[in-house]
Amino acid sequence: MSEDIPIADRHRAQPNQGRAGAISPAKLAHVVLRTAKFEEARQWYITVLGAEVIAESPLLVFLTYDDEHHRIALLNDPNAAPGGALTQPRTTGLEHVSFTYAGLGDLLLTYERLAKSGIEPHWCVNHGATTSMYFLDPDGNQVELQVDAFDSLEETLRDGPPIGEIGVEFDPEDLLARYRAGVPARELLKQDPTRGRDHRPGRRATP
Ligand SMILES: [Fe+2]
Repeated sequence: MSEDIPIADRHRAQPNQGRAGAISPAKLAHVVLRTAKFEEARQWYITVLGAEVIAESPLLVFLTYDDEHHRIALLNDPNAAPGGALTQPRTTGLEHVSFTYAGLGDLLLTYERLAKSGIEPHWCVNHGATTSMYFLDPDGNQVELQVDAFDSLEETLRDGPPIGEIGVEFDPEDLLARYRAGVPARELLKQDPTRGRDHRPGRRATP
């Protein structure tokens, strides 16, 4: 409970009486990835997340992009066996990590910035609840950059399609062009089966 939290810690994390009634973690802290491509992965996460190095050694680098001391850390292991969601697609473990942007414009401008650096998504899909772009880091780990379609969990559950549906693929250049043309984000965040493959259950894929 909040009284038990040392004063020095109170500004860092608010107590969280979780949705199921038990005390839940106050936040998700970080992800640590073991990499055989330390320098390449280090630069990739700095570029993709707009992150800065907080601390580093030949063994580890700590990266952050907000008030956390590290959101991503990379563990240098040159002899590590290749892995990653797509290079080893039928192994258990992490499927992807997802980062949410504050709005569609932030996501699309990040897409554009990364494309200029030669970093492009391998899959773009409107899941209904989110508009998502999936990238692969140098080790083949999948990273999702997304924006929510709704302002709250309640709104998502009330007005969104069933969570878990794959959704409708989209062309990021097409979405960026329509955003620049002034189409409201509210419209662009809706699934549009006329502009991409429709993976929703019971729907026929559009050409
Ligand atoms: Fe995801």
